[in-house]
Amino acid sequence: MAHPTRLVVVFGGRSAEHEISCISARHVMSALDPERYQVIPVGITRDGRWVDARRLILDAGPATAALPSPDLASAGDVLPAVGLPEVIGEEGRTVVVPLVHGPMGEDGTVQGLLELAQLPYVGAGVLASSVCMDKSAAKEILLFHGVPQCRWRSARIDEVIPAFLDEAEAVLGYPIFVKPANLGSSIGISHVSDREALEVAVGVAAQYDDFLVLEEAVAGREVEVALLGNDDPEASLPGEVVSEDGFYDYEEKYVSDRAKLLIPAPLSDTEVATVQGIAIRAFRALRVEGMARVDFFYDAQRRFLVNEVNTIPGFTPISMYPKLWEASGVPTAELLDRLVALALERHERRRAHRFVR
Ligand SMILES: Nc1ncnc2c1ncn2[C@@H]1O[C@H](COP(=O)(O)OP(=O)(O)O)[C@@H](O)[C@H]1O
Ligand SMILES: [Mg+2]
Repeated sequence: MAHPTRLVVVFGGRSAEHEISCISARHVMSALDPERYQVIPVGITRDGRWVDARRLILDAGPATAALPSPDLASAGDVLPAVGLPEVIGEEGRTVVVPLVHGPMGEDGTVQGLLELAQLPYVGAGVLASSVCMDKSAAKEILLFHGVPQCRWRSARIDEVIPAFLDEAEAVLGYPIFVKPANLGSSIGISHVSDREALEVAVGVAAQYDDFLVLEEAVAGREVEVALLGNDDPEASLPGEVVSEDGFYDYEEKYVSDRAKLLIPAPLSDTEVATVQGIAIRAFRALRVEGMARVDFFYDAQRRFLVNEVNTIPGFTPISMYPKLWEASGVPTAELLDRLVALALERHERRRAHRFVR
């Protein structure tokens, strides 16, 4: 082989999931075949500086479960503004692997930068990334495509007048989930049971975004499907998250081990086929490419309702996305090879489109 493909793994970032990203990036880097890939880690600090993380990671040694936070990089390794060209040489092929969860990473911002830099990258493009990060926009598109969801209402904050809340209460019934449209990691989300708490929850969500979503509380199971592909994605076996109190929050996801993952989820073949089919419809409707984890509620009426689509799912050794593929016969090293190939395929296809100057 002439030159190995250069993979720029971007990790860290400004969201609450900074540390998760460091663990995901370590897992990805350890799984990559060193014969095929030359890996260049690029970190984003919590305050948004980009750093060449090669020295930092070398100094930390190979044995750590997480990469060291880019926050710890020395001043000499700070890259100018958005410094990808500095770490990318001239020779050979480069693919960027954005592993930054949440706002300023998963939401199309980094993807837009990579489009401008004309670099192939793994995962959803600009539009799908930003739409999937916005719970309100994603719901509107899924509704248009007839993808099943729970009952919901969304509004711009200045539209949240008493009449809006009256109608939402009547349609959704208590309890109600109140969420900022943007964000993740359960931040700014409340679960309320009366009008007074609803009004407080609206104020909380409004601290995070100008748009918010109100949802009926679905009593049911939480099922997740991993997708891989561009136009014609494949769906993994579904997995299930069993949380203790029915609210799979940040603490449960990342801190305690109270949430248990069942892989594969105990579902019949028909149920598996149904949920996989809906996951693929959601993926295509939202124009996702590369990868996504589609999260569902499975309610008492045995309906699979899409909750959300995550375009940069966790990639830690205990994360659902890589584990579901493993259970479906795709080990992480092969999964990464396929994601890189999908990135290149998309890049070439888009380059072939006519571009009006
Ligand atoms: N409408 C709902 N009905 C029941 N549980 C919900 C609902 N919305 C959220 N939850 C619970 O809260 C968790 C986090 O909500 P989610 O919308 O997935 O936010 P995030 O983007 O932060 O992951 C879900 O995994 C689920 O446990
Ligand atoms: Mg979620």
